Amino acid sequence: MALPPAAGAPAVPFAAQPRGHGLRRPAPPGATLRLGPLFWPWEKVKVGPLSVSPMGFGTWAWGNQLLWGYQESMDSELQECFNLAMKNGINLFDTADSYGTGKLNGQSERLLGRFIREFEGPIKSPDDVVIATKFAAYPWRLTSGQFVGACKSSLERLQLDRLGIGQLHWSTANYAPLQERALWDGLVEMYDKGLVRAVGVSNYGPKQLLKIHSYLASKGVPLSSAQVQFSLLSMGDEQMELKTVCDSLGIRVIAYSPLGLGMLTGKYDASNLPKGPRSVLFRQILPGLESLLSCLRRIAEKKGKTMSQVAINWCICKGAIPIPGVKTVRHVEENLGALGWRLSPAEISDLESAAMAAPKKMIQNVFQTA
Ligand SMILES: NC(=O)c1ccc[n+]([C@@H]2O[C@H](COP(=O)([O-])OP(=O)(O)OC[C@H]3O[C@@H](n4cnc5c(N)ncnc54)[C@H](OP(=O)(O)O)[C@@H]3O)[C@@H](O)[C@H]2O)c1
Repeated sequence: MALPPAAGAPAVPFAAQPRGHGLRRPAPPGATLRLGPLFWPWEKVKVGPLSVSPMGFGTWAWGNQLLWGYQESMDSELQECFNLAMKNGINLFDTADSYGTGKLNGQSERLLGRFIREFEGPIKSPDDVVIATKFAAYPWRLTSGQFVGACKSSLERLQLDRLGIGQLHWSTANYAPLQERALWDGLVEMYDKGLVRAVGVSNYGPKQLLKIHSYLASKGVPLSSAQVQFSLLSMGDEQMELKTVCDSLGIRVIAYSPLGLGMLTGKYDASNLPKGPRSVLFRQILPGLESLLSCLRRIAEKKGKTMSQVAINWCICKGAIPIPGVKTVRHVEENLGALGWRLSPAEISDLESAAMAAPKKMIQNVFQTA
């Protein structure tokens, strides 16, 4: 089996490697010393008490017809995605109880549940597959008991007794501050009842994060993760401040939309837009991204990587766990190649200068708080 590439040497993209090869071998000690951790999928990082791969996969598309064009005929390929990820050491999968449009609500959790049950490899310990689901702060979830009920429904769809990370999908602080305490109490109750191994939040800004962190701490519940939109198109002061607060409190940042919904993959431009509502957003943002995309391309070519792999690796270099959304085997194969190497400080700085110069960034989630 080939050793990982030495510093500066061109690496072979995962998609070009024989399946199952090249990703299982940890970095040799010399390379670790020179470059810092290389983050192979089998070298786990801690999220509270959990040990997870340095990258997870997102499953928003699994059941979403409106934005992502999901059809049930895609399920066998989605199952292949899950199996391939698991066989290559990826053990973190992000989902939500609101994923799945219309009648398909909950489909992402249901599919994950089926894929876990049918997985041909061994699943012996809880760390073998870590499901991070998100509970929506729907206006009708007004009591802690209703929030715990939401957790039990997710467990049913996932066919699990216990979740890896139970995350509050968003804060209601901006529009229904009185509701929020009940949701926080719900998180405490699910943790105390052993329904979740760790508790996390999503779309929380640094100020609100400090509040929930200290509330949970007063109840003896550690806050383990904070999921936020974090990418070369979403690396403003808010994200950086959140990262600093998280680092100081031992909370792991999970980076969602690390590929800017696909804009950082390099496959779209003004004359080639994705189908559906994404095209409206892409039409606004893509025309200003020439220099960022050409910087990504230049670095990718130099390193023998793809633009997606570089964009994902940037998140890892910033200390976050990226969860790129995948819906084809090709996505999984290529994104696995974001692991096992790292960008140099000069490359990171070039990418960030190009990103900061871009006239338009990703729009922030409407539920994001300060
Ligand atoms: N907490 C929250 O509020 C929140 C919000 C958003 C997302 N999330 C989570 O974060 C995950 C990831 O974010 P995201 O799905 O919004 O965006 P993303 O990861 O930035 O982009 C995913 C999309 O990029 C394309 N893609 C992925 N890998 C590719 C590759 N190697 N080559 C070419 N194209 C590739 C695919 O779409 P196409 O092939 O169709 O272009 C894919 O669906 C979600 O699945 C979800 O679990 C959480």
